[in-house]
Parts: sequence; structure tokens; C-alpha cells
Amino acid sequence: MVHDLKNPVNIIETGARSLLDKQDRYGMLSASQEKVIRRMLRNALKIRNLANSMLEVDMATMGIVKTSDCTLSAILKSALVEVFDVVDPGVSDALEDAQDLDQIQRVLQAQDIFLEAEESQINRTIQTDETKMCLIITNLLSNAFKYKQKSVFIKCIADGERITISVRDDGPGIPECYHEQIFDQYFQCSKIEGFPVRGHGLGLAGALALTEAMGGVLSLCKSPQGAEFMVQIAYSRR
Ligand SMILES: Nc1ncnc2c1ncn2[C@@H]1O[C@H](COP(=O)(O)OP(=O)(O)OP(=O)(O)O)[C@@H](O)[C@H]1O
Ligand SMILES: [Mg+2]
Repeated sequence: MVHDLKNPVNIIETGARSLLDKQDRYGMLSASQEKVIRRMLRNALKIRNLANSMLEVDMATMGIVKTSDCTLSAILKSALVEVFDVVDPGVSDALEDAQDLDQIQRVLQAQDIFLEAEESQINRTIQTDETKMCLIITNLLSNAFKYKQKSVFIKCIADGERITISVRDDGPGIPECYHEQIFDQYFQCSKIEGFPVRGHGLGLAGALALTEAMGGVLSLCKSPQGAEFMVQIAYSRR
């Protein structure tokens, strides 16, 4: 079972953390040894995230949704931190430290990621399934990061009773003939187009299952350049 992965991953993470944090006890590490251990930790985190998202998608297909009080800015921040943890952990740290929208936008802009949002909207307390929302956005962002040439554009709106988030990149885009299959499990148009295949073709199918469990809509927009996905989900206001 997927959840059985959690214990061994915990042990790997705790061991690696101890080697890094208790060098007086376990012995001093050289800079290159530290680098190797940090890489191991990042990959253990990948396994943990993967196991969590598989469990969450499984729950979504059974209609299990857990709403709680949260803010769109917290959801966005943790999705961005998760994506940067894999590609550039230094940016993740800077995002964790960012106190407001302006600071988040500045950290992102230095990476050619442009976030359009209104502080008052994204900091409003809303009720939604935070874990599922975060996973949906993480999936869209990780695809955009994988295929972008240079830039990613994120737009976030929380007006009335609905959240709308769009993620657009400036990569090769998705040929229109595949727009119907793109959300199918294991479908990868990169295989067909001869791009190097990375991943399994499960991210979008999972994101769709999560969105639909929450009564939302996930769509691939017609975009003149790159690929643009939009998710719309109703929420309750407190
Ligand atoms: N932003 C994008 N630009 C170009 N092609 C994309 C983009 N997002 C998705 N695709 C295409 O859709 C396919 C399916 O995406 P999906 O996220 O489901 O799988 P994956 O990213 O290949 O693997 P996984 O998400 O399981 O790691 C991708 O393989 C790619 O061909
Ligand atoms: Mg993906």
C-alpha cells in the first residue's frame, strides 16, 4: 500500500537530518558531503509528496473532501515552495520567509515567474480543501516549470464565492489535437512529439480528479503561445 512508504521515508529523512544537524555527534561533513545529503533529503521529500498525492487522489475518487479555514496565499505559497524545493531550494527558503504578496512577487520575478493577485483577495479567510487545492496547483506549476522556455504567469482571483487560478507558460504548448486526451491517465503528448519524456502522465489526471471531487472545473485554455490551464472552484466565505 502507498501509505506504507511513509515509515521508511521518515527513517531516511530523520537519519539524513541528524547527519546534517548533529555534526558534533556524528562527525563533521565536508561541503560536498553536505550537498549529497541535502540532495538525498530533497528526493526523500519527493517520495513523501508523491505518496501523499496518490493517497489524496484516491480519497478524491471516493468523494472524500475535507474543508477547513485557510487563505489562498498560504495555498499558493506552499505549492510554490514544493515546486521550488525540487528545482531550486534556495528560492523555497526565500518564499517561506516572504511576509506579504509584494515580497512573494519579488522573489518570483527574479526567477521569471509572474504572479498577478490582489492582496485583499488572497488573504481573505476561505473554506476549502487546502491539501487538494495545493496539489492541483503544484501539478499545474510543475508542468509549467517542466515545459517553460523562460517564464510562467500565474493569475489568482478569489471574488464572490469562487477561486480562479490560471497557470501559463511560454513553452511549446499542447497541440489542439491532444486537448481531449490531455487529462487521461498515462497520456503524454511529449512521447508523440519526440520530447524527452519526464514523469508518468498522471499529474493532470490526478489534478482533474481532485478538482471534480471539489465540484470544480479544470480546463486547458486556447492560448496563442505556450500552455495555459485554469482551475475554478467554489468556496465558502467565513
Ligand atoms: N505546460 C505544458 N506544456 C506542454 N505540454 C504539457 C504541459 N502540461 C502538460 N503537458 C503535456 O501533457 C502530458 C500530461 O501531463 P501530466 O502532468 O499528466 O503528466 P507528466 O507531467 O508527463 O507526468 P507526471 O505529472 O505524472 O509527473 C505531459 O506529458 C505533456 O506532454
Ligand atoms: Mg505533470
